Amino acid sequence: RSDAAGDHYEIVQRAAKVELLPGVPTEIWGYNGIFPGPTIVSRSGRPAVVRHRNELPVPVVVHLHGGRTPSSDDGYPTDLLMPVGAPAGQGDHMSGSHAGRMSDPAASISTGERDYRYPLRQRSATLWYHDHRMDFTGPSVWRGLAGFHLVGNAEEDALPLPRDDRDLPLMIADRAFGDDGSLLYPSLDPTLARPGVQAAYGSGVLGDVILVNGVPWPLAEVSATRHRLRLLNASNARRYRLALDPPPPGGGGLVQIGTDGGLLERPVRHDAIDLAPAQRYDVVVDFGAYRVGQEVTLINQFGTGSTEDVMRFRVARSGRDDTRIPDRLSRIPGLRPADALVTRTMRFQHDDVHGMAGWTINGQPFAPGLVHARARLDSVEIWRLTSDFHHPVHLHLAPFQVLSRGNSGPGPYDLGWKDTLDLRPAEQATIIVRFDGYTGRYVFHCHNLEHEDMAMMGNLVVF
Ligand code: C2O
Ligand code: CU
Ligand code: CU
Repeated sequence: RSDAAGDHYEIVQRAAKVELLPGVPTEIWGYNGIFPGPTIVSRSGRPAVVRHRNELPVPVVVHLHGGRTPSSDDGYPTDLLMPVGAPAGQGDHMSGSHAGRMSDPAASISTGERDYRYPLRQRSATLWYHDHRMDFTGPSVWRGLAGFHLVGNAEEDALPLPRDDRDLPLMIADRAFGDDGSLLYPSLDPTLARPGVQAAYGSGVLGDVILVNGVPWPLAEVSATRHRLRLLNASNARRYRLALDPPPPGGGGLVQIGTDGGLLERPVRHDAIDLAPAQRYDVVVDFGAYRVGQEVTLINQFGTGSTEDVMRFRVARSGRDDTRIPDRLSRIPGLRPADALVTRTMRFQHDDVHGMAGWTINGQPFAPGLVHARARLDSVEIWRLTSDFHHPVHLHLAPFQVLSRGNSGPGPYDLGWKDTLDLRPAEQATIIVRFDGYTGRYVFHCHNLEHEDMAMMGNLVVF
Protein backbone atom coordinates (compact mmCIF):
# COMPACT_ATOMS: atom_id res chain seq x y z
CA ARG A 1 0.00 0.00 0.00
CA SER A 2 1.31 3.45 -0.86
CA ASP A 3 0.11 6.84 0.31
CA ALA A 4 1.50 10.26 1.09
CA ALA A 5 3.41 8.84 4.06
CA GLY A 6 5.28 6.38 1.86
CA ASP A 7 5.14 2.71 0.95
CA HIS A 8 3.65 0.41 3.57
CA TYR A 9 4.62 -3.20 4.16
CA GLU A 10 3.48 -5.78 6.66
CA ILE A 11 5.76 -8.53 7.85
CA VAL A 12 4.83 -11.30 10.26
CA GLN A 13 7.73 -12.93 12.03
CA ARG A 14 6.88 -16.55 12.64
CA ALA A 15 8.17 -20.06 12.85
CA ALA A 16 7.60 -22.16 9.74
CA LYS A 17 8.61 -25.48 8.25
CA VAL A 18 10.30 -24.99 4.92
CA GLU A 19 12.33 -27.22 2.64
CA LEU A 20 15.89 -25.94 2.60
CA LEU A 21 17.52 -29.34 2.11
CA PRO A 22 15.83 -31.47 -0.56
CA GLY A 23 13.06 -33.60 0.92
CA VAL A 24 13.56 -32.64 4.57
CA PRO A 25 11.52 -30.02 6.42
CA THR A 26 13.45 -27.50 8.49
CA GLU A 27 11.91 -25.29 11.10
CA ILE A 28 13.00 -21.69 10.62
CA TRP A 29 12.15 -18.35 12.11
CA GLY A 30 11.27 -16.28 9.10
CA TYR A 31 10.01 -12.89 8.07
CA ASN A 32 6.62 -13.98 6.69
CA GLY A 33 7.78 -17.50 7.44
CA ILE A 34 10.31 -17.60 4.60
CA PHE A 35 14.09 -17.47 4.33
CA PRO A 36 15.32 -15.09 3.10
CA GLY A 37 12.52 -12.76 4.12
CA PRO A 38 10.59 -10.85 1.44
CA THR A 39 12.69 -8.47 -0.64
CA ILE A 40 11.53 -4.90 -0.19
CA VAL A 41 12.19 -2.57 -3.11
CA SER A 42 12.23 1.16 -2.34
CA ARG A 43 13.19 4.41 -3.99
CA SER A 44 15.64 6.93 -2.54
CA GLY A 45 13.79 9.57 -0.57
CA ARG A 46 10.49 7.70 -0.52
CA PRO A 47 9.76 6.51 3.03
CA ALA A 48 9.09 2.85 3.68
CA VAL A 49 6.95 1.98 6.69
CA VAL A 50 7.28 -1.65 7.69
CA ARG A 51 4.82 -3.04 10.23
CA HIS A 52 6.30 -6.02 12.01
CA ARG A 53 4.17 -8.45 13.95
CA ASN A 54 6.03 -10.81 16.25
CA GLU A 55 4.51 -14.28 16.38
CA LEU A 56 7.79 -15.86 17.48
CA PRO A 57 8.30 -17.14 21.04
CA VAL A 58 11.07 -14.61 21.71
CA PRO A 59 11.47 -10.83 21.58
CA VAL A 60 12.81 -9.42 18.34
CA VAL A 61 14.51 -6.25 17.14
CA VAL A 62 14.58 -5.26 13.47
CA HIS A 63 17.53 -3.37 12.01
CA LEU A 64 17.82 -2.08 8.45
CA HIS A 65 21.52 -2.57 7.77
CA GLY A 66 22.90 0.29 5.70
CA GLY A 67 19.82 2.39 6.31
CA ARG A 68 20.11 5.98 7.44
CA THR A 69 17.38 5.76 10.02
CA PRO A 70 16.30 7.82 13.03
CA SER A 71 17.53 6.16 16.19
CA SER A 72 14.01 5.26 17.38
CA ASP A 73 13.56 3.02 14.32
CA ASP A 74 17.12 1.79 13.85
CA GLY A 75 16.69 -1.36 15.90
CA TYR A 76 18.67 -0.47 19.00
CA PRO A 77 19.47 -3.82 20.66
CA THR A 78 17.19 -3.30 23.66
CA ASP A 79 14.26 -1.70 21.80
CA LEU A 80 12.41 -4.99 21.89
CA LEU A 81 9.28 -6.01 20.07
CA MET A 82 7.74 -8.56 22.44
CA PRO A 83 5.71 -11.50 21.12
CA VAL A 84 2.01 -11.10 20.38
CA GLY A 85 0.10 -11.81 23.57
CA ALA A 86 3.04 -11.24 25.88
CA PRO A 87 1.69 -9.72 29.09
CA ALA A 88 2.08 -5.95 29.12
CA GLY A 89 5.19 -4.93 30.94
CA GLN A 90 6.91 -8.23 30.23
CA GLY A 91 9.69 -6.29 28.62
CA ASP A 92 10.37 -4.49 31.86
CA HIS A 93 12.56 -7.18 33.28
CA MET A 94 14.69 -6.86 30.17
CA SER A 95 14.97 -3.15 30.62
CA GLY A 96 14.30 -1.36 33.86
CA SER A 97 14.69 -3.64 36.79
CA HIS A 98 16.97 -6.40 35.51
CA ALA A 99 20.35 -5.91 37.05
CA GLY A 100 23.48 -6.10 34.95
CA ARG A 101 24.38 -5.50 31.33
CA MET A 102 20.83 -5.79 29.99
CA SER A 103 19.55 -3.00 32.17
CA ASP A 104 18.36 -0.17 29.96
CA PRO A 105 15.89 2.35 31.33
CA ALA A 106 15.93 4.11 27.95
CA ALA A 107 14.71 1.06 26.03
CA SER A 108 11.45 1.44 24.18
CA ILE A 109 9.49 -1.80 24.41
CA SER A 110 6.48 -2.65 22.24
CA THR A 111 4.30 -5.71 22.28
CA GLY A 112 2.87 -7.62 19.34
CA GLU A 113 3.25 -5.12 16.53
CA ARG A 114 5.12 -1.97 15.71
CA ASP A 115 5.98 0.15 12.71
CA TYR A 116 9.53 0.80 11.63
CA ARG A 117 9.79 4.00 9.60
CA TYR A 118 12.63 4.36 7.12
CA PRO A 119 12.98 7.77 5.49
CA LEU A 120 15.58 6.35 3.05
CA ARG A 121 17.08 9.75 2.35
CA GLN A 122 20.14 8.05 0.93
CA ARG A 123 21.73 6.77 -2.26
CA SER A 124 20.57 3.74 -4.13
CA ALA A 125 22.13 0.67 -2.53
CA THR A 126 21.72 -2.96 -1.60
CA LEU A 127 20.55 -2.95 2.01
CA TRP A 128 19.35 -5.81 4.16
CA TYR A 129 17.34 -6.19 7.31
CA HIS A 130 17.94 -8.62 10.11
CA ASP A 131 17.39 -9.25 13.79
CA HIS A 132 19.45 -7.23 16.27
CA ARG A 133 18.41 -8.30 19.75
CA MET A 134 21.05 -7.78 22.41
CA ASP A 135 23.04 -10.97 23.07
CA PHE A 136 20.85 -13.07 20.72
CA THR A 137 21.44 -11.71 17.23
CA GLY A 138 23.55 -14.72 16.20
CA PRO A 139 20.99 -17.46 16.91
CA SER A 140 18.07 -15.38 15.61
CA VAL A 141 19.69 -14.58 12.28
CA TRP A 142 20.94 -18.17 12.00
CA ARG A 143 17.32 -19.36 12.28
CA GLY A 144 16.39 -17.19 9.30
CA LEU A 145 15.69 -13.59 10.29
CA ALA A 146 17.30 -11.81 7.33
CA GLY A 147 16.05 -10.27 4.09
CA PHE A 148 17.01 -7.84 1.32
CA HIS A 149 15.87 -4.24 1.14
CA LEU A 150 16.91 -2.68 -2.16
CA VAL A 151 16.91 1.05 -2.73
CA GLY A 152 16.91 2.39 -6.26
CA ASN A 153 17.00 5.85 -7.78
CA ALA A 154 16.95 7.73 -11.06
CA GLU A 155 20.73 8.07 -11.28
CA GLU A 156 21.07 4.32 -11.30
CA ASP A 157 18.11 3.78 -13.65
CA ALA A 158 19.80 5.99 -16.21
CA LEU A 159 22.80 3.67 -16.46
CA PRO A 160 22.80 0.87 -19.08
CA LEU A 161 23.40 -1.82 -16.41
CA PRO A 162 21.71 -5.24 -16.37
CA ARG A 163 18.32 -5.04 -14.69
CA ASP A 164 15.12 -6.97 -13.97
CA ASP A 165 15.73 -10.71 -14.31
CA ARG A 166 19.41 -10.01 -14.96
CA ASP A 167 19.78 -8.29 -11.59
CA LEU A 168 20.17 -11.03 -8.99
CA PRO A 169 20.33 -10.33 -5.26
CA LEU A 170 22.30 -13.26 -3.79
CA MET A 171 22.20 -13.79 -0.05
CA ILE A 172 25.07 -16.08 0.84
CA ALA A 173 24.82 -17.74 4.25
CA ASP A 174 26.37 -20.88 5.68
CA ARG A 175 24.32 -23.08 7.98
CA ALA A 176 24.61 -26.44 9.70
CA PHE A 177 21.84 -29.02 9.90
CA GLY A 178 21.12 -31.91 12.20
CA ASP A 179 20.24 -35.31 10.75
CA ASP A 180 16.52 -34.52 11.09
CA GLY A 181 16.92 -31.36 9.00
CA SER A 182 16.81 -29.02 11.97
CA LEU A 183 19.04 -26.00 11.94
CA LEU A 184 21.96 -26.66 14.20
CA TYR A 185 23.37 -23.67 16.00
CA PRO A 186 26.46 -25.19 17.51
CA SER A 187 26.98 -22.23 19.78
CA LEU A 188 30.02 -22.96 21.84
CA ASP A 189 29.19 -26.60 22.50
CA PRO A 190 32.24 -28.45 21.13
CA THR A 191 30.39 -31.78 21.15
CA LEU A 192 28.34 -30.54 18.20
CA ALA A 193 31.39 -29.84 16.07
CA ARG A 194 32.06 -31.87 12.95
CA PRO A 195 34.24 -31.16 9.96
CA GLY A 196 33.15 -27.83 8.50
CA VAL A 197 30.82 -27.08 11.41
CA GLN A 198 32.52 -25.10 14.01
CA ALA A 199 31.80 -22.86 16.88
CA ALA A 200 35.23 -21.99 18.02
CA TYR A 201 35.46 -19.08 20.33
CA GLY A 202 37.54 -17.12 17.87
CA SER A 203 35.84 -17.92 14.61
CA GLY A 204 32.21 -17.74 15.68
CA VAL A 205 29.67 -20.19 14.31
CA LEU A 206 30.42 -21.74 10.92
CA GLY A 207 28.26 -24.14 8.95
CA ASP A 208 29.14 -26.73 6.31
CA VAL A 209 26.21 -26.02 3.96
CA ILE A 210 26.32 -22.92 1.77
CA LEU A 211 22.89 -21.48 1.09
CA VAL A 212 22.25 -18.88 -1.57
CA ASN A 213 18.83 -17.30 -1.13
CA GLY A 214 17.97 -20.24 1.09
CA VAL A 215 18.99 -22.94 -1.41
CA PRO A 216 22.07 -25.12 -0.89
CA TRP A 217 24.63 -24.68 -3.70
CA PRO A 218 21.96 -23.67 -6.24
CA LEU A 219 22.19 -23.83 -10.00
CA ALA A 220 20.93 -20.77 -11.89
CA GLU A 221 20.27 -20.86 -15.61
CA VAL A 222 21.37 -17.67 -17.30
CA SER A 223 21.55 -16.35 -20.83
CA ALA A 224 24.94 -15.54 -22.33
CA THR A 225 24.61 -11.90 -21.33
CA ARG A 226 25.77 -9.57 -18.58
CA HIS A 227 24.18 -10.10 -15.19
CA ARG A 228 24.38 -8.02 -12.09
CA LEU A 229 25.00 -10.05 -8.94
CA ARG A 230 24.29 -8.28 -5.67
CA LEU A 231 26.47 -10.32 -3.36
CA LEU A 232 25.56 -10.16 0.32
CA ASN A 233 27.40 -12.15 2.95
CA ALA A 234 24.62 -12.84 5.48
CA SER A 235 26.65 -15.49 7.29
CA ASN A 236 27.08 -15.18 11.01
CA ALA A 237 30.84 -15.45 10.88
CA ARG A 238 32.19 -16.92 7.64
CA ARG A 239 34.43 -14.94 5.30
CA TYR A 240 34.49 -15.79 1.61
CA ARG A 241 36.89 -15.16 -1.25
CA LEU A 242 34.62 -15.43 -4.26
CA ALA A 243 35.85 -16.13 -7.77
CA LEU A 244 34.57 -17.60 -11.02
CA ASP A 245 35.66 -21.07 -12.06
CA PRO A 246 36.60 -21.20 -14.84
CA PRO A 247 37.50 -17.53 -15.07
CA PRO A 248 36.54 -15.86 -18.35
CA PRO A 249 39.32 -15.50 -20.94
CA GLY A 250 41.53 -12.63 -19.86
CA GLY A 251 40.36 -12.79 -16.22
CA GLY A 252 38.88 -9.94 -14.24
CA GLY A 253 35.48 -11.62 -14.46
CA LEU A 254 33.96 -9.93 -11.42
CA VAL A 255 33.47 -6.32 -12.41
CA GLN A 256 32.60 -4.48 -9.24
CA ILE A 257 30.16 -1.64 -9.72
CA GLY A 258 28.91 -1.13 -6.18
CA THR A 259 29.49 -1.78 -2.54
CA ASP A 260 27.70 -1.39 0.84
CA GLY A 261 26.71 2.21 0.17
CA GLY A 262 25.82 1.95 -3.51
CA LEU A 263 27.57 2.56 -6.81
CA LEU A 264 31.31 3.11 -7.04
CA GLU A 265 32.68 6.04 -8.97
CA ARG A 266 34.11 3.69 -11.60
CA PRO A 267 33.95 -0.04 -12.21
CA VAL A 268 36.82 -2.17 -10.86
CA ARG A 269 37.77 -5.56 -12.28
CA HIS A 270 38.58 -8.33 -9.84
CA ASP A 271 39.57 -11.97 -10.20
CA ALA A 272 38.32 -12.56 -6.66
CA ILE A 273 36.46 -10.58 -4.02
CA ASP A 274 36.76 -10.97 -0.26
CA LEU A 275 33.41 -10.79 1.46
CA ALA A 276 33.28 -10.39 5.24
CA PRO A 277 30.01 -10.82 7.12
CA ALA A 278 27.40 -8.14 6.28
CA GLN A 279 29.35 -6.72 3.35
CA ARG A 280 27.76 -6.21 -0.06
CA TYR A 281 29.51 -6.17 -3.41
CA ASP A 282 27.58 -5.52 -6.60
CA VAL A 283 29.37 -7.09 -9.53
CA VAL A 284 28.61 -7.56 -13.20
CA VAL A 285 29.50 -10.92 -14.74
CA ASP A 286 29.42 -11.26 -18.51
CA PHE A 287 28.22 -14.78 -19.24
CA GLY A 288 28.65 -13.88 -22.91
CA ALA A 289 32.34 -14.69 -22.34
CA TYR A 290 31.35 -18.37 -21.96
CA ARG A 291 29.98 -20.96 -24.39
CA VAL A 292 26.30 -21.78 -24.39
CA GLY A 293 25.97 -24.98 -22.37
CA GLN A 294 28.96 -24.21 -20.17
CA GLU A 295 28.79 -24.21 -16.38
CA VAL A 296 30.49 -21.57 -14.30
CA THR A 297 30.92 -22.03 -10.56
CA LEU A 298 31.07 -19.23 -8.05
CA ILE A 299 33.74 -20.65 -5.79
CA ASN A 300 34.96 -19.73 -2.33
CA GLN A 301 38.74 -19.78 -2.23
CA PHE A 302 38.69 -19.56 1.57
CA GLY A 303 36.57 -22.70 1.82
CA THR A 304 37.50 -26.33 2.28
CA GLY A 305 35.45 -29.36 1.33
CA SER A 306 31.75 -28.54 1.15
CA THR A 307 32.36 -24.82 1.58
CA GLU A 308 34.57 -24.52 -1.51
CA ASP A 309 31.58 -24.03 -3.80
CA VAL A 310 28.88 -21.40 -3.44
CA MET A 311 26.66 -21.80 -6.50
CA ARG A 312 26.72 -22.62 -10.20
CA PHE A 313 25.51 -20.83 -13.28
CA ARG A 314 24.62 -22.69 -16.45
CA VAL A 315 24.76 -20.63 -19.61
CA ALA A 316 21.54 -22.05 -20.99
CA ARG A 317 20.98 -19.93 -24.08
CA SER A 318 22.32 -17.04 -26.07
CA GLY A 319 20.66 -13.68 -25.56
CA ARG A 320 20.54 -10.16 -26.83
CA ASP A 321 22.57 -7.84 -24.65
CA ASP A 322 22.23 -4.10 -24.87
CA THR A 323 23.80 -3.47 -21.49
CA ARG A 324 27.20 -2.03 -20.88
CA ILE A 325 29.31 -1.00 -17.94
CA PRO A 326 29.96 2.71 -18.21
CA ASP A 327 33.38 4.00 -17.19
CA ARG A 328 31.72 6.51 -14.94
CA LEU A 329 29.06 5.17 -12.59
CA SER A 330 28.55 7.82 -9.97
CA ARG A 331 30.22 10.63 -8.13
CA ILE A 332 31.65 10.07 -4.69
CA PRO A 333 32.84 13.22 -2.97
CA GLY A 334 35.84 12.28 -0.85
CA LEU A 335 35.66 13.17 2.83
CA ARG A 336 38.68 15.26 3.72
CA PRO A 337 40.86 14.40 6.71
CA ALA A 338 41.39 18.14 7.23
CA ASP A 339 37.69 18.43 8.08
CA ALA A 340 37.88 15.87 10.87
CA LEU A 341 37.37 17.37 14.31
CA VAL A 342 38.29 14.26 16.22
CA THR A 343 40.44 11.19 15.76
CA ARG A 344 39.44 8.24 17.89
CA THR A 345 41.01 4.85 18.36
CA MET A 346 38.78 1.79 18.65
CA ARG A 347 40.55 -1.41 19.57
CA PHE A 348 38.63 -4.53 18.63
CA GLN A 349 40.10 -7.11 20.91
CA HIS A 350 39.65 -10.09 23.09
CA ASP A 351 39.75 -9.14 26.74
CA ASP A 352 38.93 -10.18 30.21
CA VAL A 353 35.50 -8.96 31.22
CA HIS A 354 34.73 -9.35 34.90
CA GLY A 355 36.99 -12.37 35.02
CA MET A 356 35.47 -13.94 31.91
CA ALA A 357 36.87 -13.98 28.40
CA GLY A 358 34.94 -11.75 26.04
CA TRP A 359 35.15 -9.62 22.92
CA THR A 360 35.39 -5.93 23.58
CA ILE A 361 35.98 -2.53 22.06
CA ASN A 362 38.68 -0.67 23.94
CA GLY A 363 38.44 -3.27 26.68
CA GLN A 364 34.77 -2.52 27.33
CA PRO A 365 31.94 -4.96 26.66
CA PHE A 366 28.68 -3.57 25.32
CA ALA A 367 26.22 -2.20 27.82
CA PRO A 368 23.35 0.09 26.88
CA GLY A 369 24.51 2.92 29.11
CA LEU A 370 28.17 2.80 28.18
CA VAL A 371 29.03 5.35 25.51
CA HIS A 372 32.15 4.81 23.40
CA ALA A 373 31.80 7.96 21.30
CA ARG A 374 29.79 11.17 21.26
CA ALA A 375 29.76 12.98 17.95
CA ARG A 376 28.12 16.22 16.92
CA LEU A 377 25.58 15.91 14.11
CA ASP A 378 27.24 16.53 10.73
CA SER A 379 30.73 16.44 12.17
CA VAL A 380 33.51 14.52 10.46
CA GLU A 381 35.67 12.11 12.44
CA ILE A 382 38.57 9.80 11.75
CA TRP A 383 38.47 6.45 13.47
CA ARG A 384 41.58 4.35 13.83
CA LEU A 385 40.56 0.71 14.13
CA THR A 386 42.89 -1.94 15.45
CA SER A 387 42.29 -5.63 15.65
CA ASP A 388 43.55 -8.84 17.21
CA PHE A 389 41.53 -11.09 14.91
CA HIS A 390 39.12 -10.98 11.95
CA HIS A 391 36.55 -8.39 12.91
CA PRO A 392 34.10 -7.02 10.34
CA VAL A 393 33.53 -3.58 11.83
CA HIS A 394 30.12 -2.06 11.16
CA LEU A 395 28.85 1.44 11.93
CA HIS A 396 25.17 2.25 12.05
CA LEU A 397 23.70 5.48 10.66
CA ALA A 398 26.51 6.82 8.53
CA PRO A 399 28.59 5.27 5.77
CA PHE A 400 32.35 5.82 5.83
CA GLN A 401 35.32 5.89 3.51
CA VAL A 402 38.50 3.94 4.07
CA LEU A 403 41.62 6.10 4.28
CA SER A 404 44.24 3.45 4.92
CA ARG A 405 45.11 -0.07 5.91
CA GLY A 406 48.40 -0.51 7.66
CA ASN A 407 50.86 1.73 5.87
CA SER A 408 49.06 1.72 2.56
CA GLY A 409 45.94 3.21 1.13
CA PRO A 410 42.56 1.50 0.99
CA GLY A 411 42.57 -2.16 -0.03
CA PRO A 412 41.14 -3.40 -3.33
CA TYR A 413 37.71 -4.04 -1.77
CA ASP A 414 37.55 -0.83 0.26
CA LEU A 415 36.42 1.57 -2.43
CA GLY A 416 33.29 3.67 -2.27
CA TRP A 417 30.92 4.18 0.66
CA LYS A 418 31.29 1.34 3.14
CA ASP A 419 29.33 0.46 6.24
CA THR A 420 31.31 -2.65 7.15
CA LEU A 421 35.09 -2.92 7.06
CA ASP A 422 36.87 -6.27 6.82
CA LEU A 423 39.43 -5.72 9.54
CA ARG A 424 42.01 -8.50 9.60
CA PRO A 425 44.19 -9.88 12.40
CA ALA A 426 46.78 -7.48 13.76
CA GLU A 427 45.66 -4.91 11.26
CA GLN A 428 45.19 -1.22 11.70
CA ALA A 429 42.89 0.75 9.43
CA THR A 430 41.63 4.30 9.39
CA ILE A 431 38.21 5.35 8.22
CA ILE A 432 36.61 8.75 7.85
CA VAL A 433 32.95 9.34 8.50
CA ARG A 434 30.48 12.21 8.59
CA PHE A 435 27.78 11.61 11.18
CA ASP A 436 24.97 13.19 9.24
CA GLY A 437 21.36 12.17 9.32
CA TYR A 438 19.88 12.11 12.80
CA THR A 439 20.76 12.64 16.41
CA GLY A 440 20.27 9.87 18.91
CA ARG A 441 21.95 6.71 20.08
CA TYR A 442 23.33 4.18 17.65
CA VAL A 443 25.60 1.21 17.87
CA PHE A 444 28.73 0.15 16.07
CA HIS A 445 30.00 -3.37 16.39
CA CYS A 446 31.78 -6.37 15.05
CA HIS A 447 29.47 -8.10 12.57
CA ASN A 448 30.79 -11.53 13.41
CA LEU A 449 27.47 -12.16 15.16
CA GLU A 450 28.97 -14.34 17.84
CA HIS A 451 31.50 -11.61 18.64
CA GLU A 452 28.67 -9.09 18.66
CA ASP A 453 26.61 -11.21 21.05
CA MET A 454 29.67 -11.62 23.23
CA ALA A 455 29.56 -7.85 23.64
CA MET A 456 31.86 -6.51 20.89
CA MET A 457 29.61 -3.50 20.39
CA GLY A 458 29.72 0.13 21.42
CA ASN A 459 27.36 3.07 21.66
CA LEU A 460 27.70 6.05 19.41
CA VAL A 461 25.65 9.03 20.52
CA VAL A 462 25.06 11.69 17.89
CA PHE A 463 23.97 15.02 19.36
CU1 C2O B 1 23.87 -5.66 10.19
CU2 C2O B 1 24.19 -3.64 13.62
O1 C2O B 1 24.00 -4.65 11.92
CU1 CU C 1 23.64 -1.96 10.53
CU1 CU D 1 34.85 -9.73 15.76
